[in-house]
Amino acid sequence: MRTDTARPVLLKNYSKPDYAIRQVDLDFALHPEKTRVVAKSRVERQRWAKAGTKLRLDGDGLNFVSASLDGKPLPASAYTVSSDQFVLHEPPAKFELEIVTEVNPSANTALSGLYLSGGNYCTQCEAEGFRRITYFLDRPDVLAIFTVRMEAPLESAPVLLSNGNPVAAGKAENGNHYAIWHDPHPKPSYLFALVAGNLASIHQDYVTADNRKVRLGIYVQKGKENRAGYAMDALVRSMRWDEEVFGCNYDLDVFNIVAVPDFNMGAMENKGLNIFNDKYVLADPATATDTDFARIEAIIAHEYFHNWTGDRITCRDWFQLCLKEGLTVYRDQEFSADMRSRPVKRIEDVVTLRAQQFPEDAGPLAHPVRPEAYREINNFYTATVYEKGAEIVRMLALLLGEKKFAKGMARYLKKHDGDAATIEDFIACFEQAAKIDLSQFFLWYRQAGTPHLHLASHYDKEKQTFTVEAEQSLAPTPGQNRKKPMHIPVRAALIGSKSGKQLEPSKITGIDSNGELLEFRQRRHKVVFHGIAERPLLSFNRDFSAPVITDYRYSDNELVFLAANDTDPFNRWQSLRTLAGREIIRAMRQMAKRRKPAWNDGLAPAFSSVAHDETLEPAFRAVALTLPSEADIAQLIGKNIDPDAIHSARNALQGHIGEALEPVRAEIAATLEIDGEYAPDAMQSGKRRLRHVLLSHALAANSEAAEKEVTDLFQSATNMTDRQAAFDMILRQVDDTEISEKAIAQFREWYGDDPLVMDKWFMSQAVVPGRSALATVKRLTRDDAFSWKNPNRMRSVIAAFAQANPTGFNRRDGAGYRYIADAVRKLDAINPQVAARLLTAFRSYKQLELERRKQAEAALKGLKEGGKLSRDVSDILDRTLS
Ligand code: TRP
Ligand code: ZN
Repeated sequence: MRTDTARPVLLKNYSKPDYAIRQVDLDFALHPEKTRVVAKSRVERQRWAKAGTKLRLDGDGLNFVSASLDGKPLPASAYTVSSDQFVLHEPPAKFELEIVTEVNPSANTALSGLYLSGGNYCTQCEAEGFRRITYFLDRPDVLAIFTVRMEAPLESAPVLLSNGNPVAAGKAENGNHYAIWHDPHPKPSYLFALVAGNLASIHQDYVTADNRKVRLGIYVQKGKENRAGYAMDALVRSMRWDEEVFGCNYDLDVFNIVAVPDFNMGAMENKGLNIFNDKYVLADPATATDTDFARIEAIIAHEYFHNWTGDRITCRDWFQLCLKEGLTVYRDQEFSADMRSRPVKRIEDVVTLRAQQFPEDAGPLAHPVRPEAYREINNFYTATVYEKGAEIVRMLALLLGEKKFAKGMARYLKKHDGDAATIEDFIACFEQAAKIDLSQFFLWYRQAGTPHLHLASHYDKEKQTFTVEAEQSLAPTPGQNRKKPMHIPVRAALIGSKSGKQLEPSKITGIDSNGELLEFRQRRHKVVFHGIAERPLLSFNRDFSAPVITDYRYSDNELVFLAANDTDPFNRWQSLRTLAGREIIRAMRQMAKRRKPAWNDGLAPAFSSVAHDETLEPAFRAVALTLPSEADIAQLIGKNIDPDAIHSARNALQGHIGEALEPVRAEIAATLEIDGEYAPDAMQSGKRRLRHVLLSHALAANSEAAEKEVTDLFQSATNMTDRQAAFDMILRQVDDTEISEKAIAQFREWYGDDPLVMDKWFMSQAVVPGRSALATVKRLTRDDAFSWKNPNRMRSVIAAFAQANPTGFNRRDGAGYRYIADAVRKLDAINPQVAARLLTAFRSYKQLELERRKQAEAALKGLKEGGKLSRDVSDILDRTLS
């Protein structure tokens, strides 16, 4: 295990590499325990480095075999080598360095470097996995042309893949065969990949807009090839879309995707050879849900889009990670919006942002979108870098407008093609394309935390003005006590409080504005909308144009009105959500005094009218009817959180809404019939989702009809979306252990030999709320099908419990915390990256009520005092406790 710790890496200490590696030839003799790697690098001293400068190559846990320079073995005095460094003392100006190492893929449970998954060889090199294969300048600003030769037994590994184009293949000795791949595009080592094994595949031909013929391939475990078709379809649509929207054409003769069952994250954009967690490739109606299909489409697109934003233009150093990730998430979000419903996609993205990024930004793990220091870079693949990073690009697009944004993007893609670039490079392209000053805007990359906009308004009927007084604030975050005012682009409009029509102001003063766009740049603004003849309601931050928290005191009635009349679909959804959140918090107070909650009269009708409104697409109605999660409510409350109280109040509200909707449920459901074959498209998936939301509300109201319906749905479902939804609802909401136990046994009988579906079986049980959840989780980990080594399986039980079971994890006696701390320690010995991620479940513990806070802190301190931990886990642990 790699433990701490050198000093943290600092952005301000960046210096250019002293040596370039122009070319590297890799030769792999693959063997499950003893793979030989010969790496031949053409090295050149850079003109800015002094003669005699040592060459220091990175390694991580390597077994060194030998080294030679320009074909001659190096004398021992010429170099120093350890498992994690190779130093050449007096390199010539230009030379070929050959290093031989031996690695053990079977023993690699960290799933970084070269490892075996389901008996097949694969690699994962981002961020610093290449140094677990050979000694190298393993940093993203060293770009080399790779040629890869690999050899393996023909029988066990008929498929041999790497980056770039295939150039040769044939028989070798002892029943082996070999293949040679050449990638003409210089790339950093983190984009290297190799796959070898007995895989099945599907193929398709594609012709790019500039007429290059490309052979597409998707490789999966044998027997799963009939589940790869949707991913292929998504790939083709992604390629076309990137040509049409960004002018990006593919640039090799082949593009391959490989799906493996053991993978630390979602997928990886290795040049020409994307490697995926198989849960984001494999799908058919009987085993994947609508959500799975949508995920697959988005991740296939994401990795493909990296070909330009990530591979052709990479990052100078890991501090610039959001250069590729934020931009690529923005691109995949736009792709999905074009494929499906734009407003629903936006709502879903904001739900994710608020659930993942806002809590990160509000707690001890907060960091700027471009961090300035790290101990372990793997811990910075965060919601802040990805999702907030995407929001910054979205704001840029809004500020510039479609044309200038496109011009800036085109400039970036052209000017920096082949570069290892920085955020400054990226932003400069937009400054030049639009001739604007983005220096204040740049603070979005540098200042951590979610800005608040505090608003107060008043209407002057005589003057026909509507005035909004706005003040922005940004709370301190680790290492940043004082913040500067941000440049916040907000779309805003006024809705007539009687007419429900959007009112057009004759002018807006007190702020720079352009149509609906207001640019908040000062700490305070007094914005005046002129020529407003009717008392208006404020529709603010439309389409969630800026990732901020707005504090504004709408009355309940105003929210009810806006939920029905706002001309921005996002804000219609937002108004209902705000209303529901308020009601739950109010109910908590009443229930704490042992009173029955008294519900606002307008609430149930507001939900009911959305449920009925056939001018709204079903998916929109489904998201609008979905109550804020328990974690969302916790964030609204912000301190002294009692997860049990939130849970009870939320259930009570759901019951209230369910009761109100029950008389009309059947009538609405009748409009949601699906004829024809299953398709995971926006319309069908929206209908299924709406039906499930209504059913869940009805169960919360103890409807007997709903209970019967959900058990019927479970039995007779013809697709996984319905079956899994029914299974979840039975476990969570049907208060009858006999029915639950039967469903659990039945589900296993149906899907026991399908790992991805069994992940659902595990997860649905691990997230059932309440005190007994911990006992359930312990039981699940003793199941024969459980494994600590497979990240998907581990996450479906342990991480699901820690992250998606607030009442279970946050048991007042601290048993949940201690259990997860122990699990982190156990997992750390197997897979530090995944262990560190699990530990982030504690990131908001300081917001809990006192007793739980104490218990969580004790569990964390216990973990710290219990012995050596990986750098990955210590980094998260120390920051969480600080
Ligand atoms: N770059 C990948 C993506 O966003 C994610 C990634 C980073 C990753 N590090 C990883 C995936 C380690 C697997 C393992 O698409
Ligand atoms: Zn990515």
